[in-house]
Amino acid sequence: MSDKEIKKNKVFLETYGCQMNEYDSELVRAILKKENYEFIADEREADIVMLNTCAIREHAHRKIYGRVHQIRHDRMGKPVMIGLLGCMVTNLRQELLEDHSLKIDFIAGPDSYKRLPDLIREASSDGTKGYDVTLSEFETYSDIYPTREDRGNPSTRPSGSLRVNAWIAVMRGCNNFCTFCVVPYTRGRERSRDPQNIIDEVRRLASEGFKQVTLLGQNVNSYRYETHDFAYLMEEVSKVKGIERIRFTSPHPKDFPDRFLDVMANNSKICKQIHLPLQAGNNRVLEMMDRTYTQEEFLGLVEKMRSRIPGLVLSTDIIVGFPTETEEEFEDTLKVISQVQFDSAFTFKYSERKGTIASKKYPDDVTDAQKTERIMRLNELQKGITYKKNKAHIGQTHTILIEPAISDKPSHNSVGRTDGNKLVLLSQNGYRMGEMVKVKVTDATPHALKGHPLNLSFHPSSC
Ligand code: SAH
Ligand code: SF4
Ligand code: F3S
Repeated sequence: MSDKEIKKNKVFLETYGCQMNEYDSELVRAILKKENYEFIADEREADIVMLNTCAIREHAHRKIYGRVHQIRHDRMGKPVMIGLLGCMVTNLRQELLEDHSLKIDFIAGPDSYKRLPDLIREASSDGTKGYDVTLSEFETYSDIYPTREDRGNPSTRPSGSLRVNAWIAVMRGCNNFCTFCVVPYTRGRERSRDPQNIIDEVRRLASEGFKQVTLLGQNVNSYRYETHDFAYLMEEVSKVKGIERIRFTSPHPKDFPDRFLDVMANNSKICKQIHLPLQAGNNRVLEMMDRTYTQEEFLGLVEKMRSRIPGLVLSTDIIVGFPTETEEEFEDTLKVISQVQFDSAFTFKYSERKGTIASKKYPDDVTDAQKTERIMRLNELQKGITYKKNKAHIGQTHTILIEPAISDKPSHNSVGRTDGNKLVLLSQNGYRMGEMVKVKVTDATPHALKGHPLNLSFHPSSC
């Protein structure tokens, strides 16, 4: 029997990259479940293995190639269809289809998931490769209700239970074309979902027990639907009963009007936390990146945010070793990091991406050794700041939202997150995910806070 003749209905789906890809995998589950596909956790039993890929850095690519070879190898000749989804396929469709050693059966780009049942059928019926990587100016999947995976620990989750966070994409695509970034090419143009449709989804999530929603978009705060902006959307979402916390990611510094900051400051459900990607601290580098702000403007924005939103928790993204970045220019990044004192930072070595403006205009001339040296210095500096920031919470009281336990072992204590998204390890266990617990912070590490519950009388195991 050939690969193509077996009944292919058991699917193993693995997701790489950002939260938007996680969300998209939930859409894919919903689309295929309707067509009688079953999702399973053991890839060895699957008829179809799908990898939802990321293209943001070279490392992400290499991982996928290695993974495809490993899947084929592990099957030891047992037939399996392999499909690639996500950002990598829009970027590298030709390469993927022509590389015969990979033997990919079908590929679907981020705007083609509704065609997946057809693509799988095409690939399995006549052996041609099913592929669709067309990018749409309209597709928002607003008619699909994602199948959200329950990542909780079943032993601590009562039936009909409280659940924790649901991702919800409110816009897709990006029009910014930062010169280093592949996302505008892999995900196409910006488009926003109808707010009413988003609110309906949030209501349904609340009725299913979710306590927190995180609004997603590649450029989430440039959300616009007719006359409605992101501030309007956040306010409307906050009116949904049962949702206790609202977060959003990733915003761009260019889209923070005062009105939005005021909405954030005055609305108790909107978490006082912003991920504010800086990328670089030097003005020449920022201009080459086409980030549309200067160091001074970024610092001014941070100051304004902090003065309007007391207790704001800030995190950032940094790229080191952008083409032609000198040692002095890198030191400007260190300077801004010291000055702003972010609570945390995600740091990356510049990785040249095919098709981007930077790949055409600027040779990748900072050596890997220089990038490594810079990222290590940056991480060292940020580690100290994060630890200091965490220690400043000792003695403070926070309400935390209990998350799925880190491990299923009953000996593992409950964990939760503060409004500012800091992880708190509790001195007790037995709390249910989705529960709000008041804690006093007793200690801190560079990675998390430690806390003691204050509302012990409501401790579930004592009821
Ligand atoms: N839309 C988000 C970014 C999404 S990508 C924003 O504008 O903030 C997440 C992060 O990956 C970026 O913030 C950037 O720091 C990093 N990144 C993107 N392209 C990169 C590249 N070519 N090399 C290294 N890091 C990159
Ligand atoms: Fe990429 Fe810039 Fe768009 Fe973010 S805003 S996704 S970094 S192009
Ligand atoms: Fe990667 Fe695409 Fe997200 S490139 S970071 S999966 S938008």
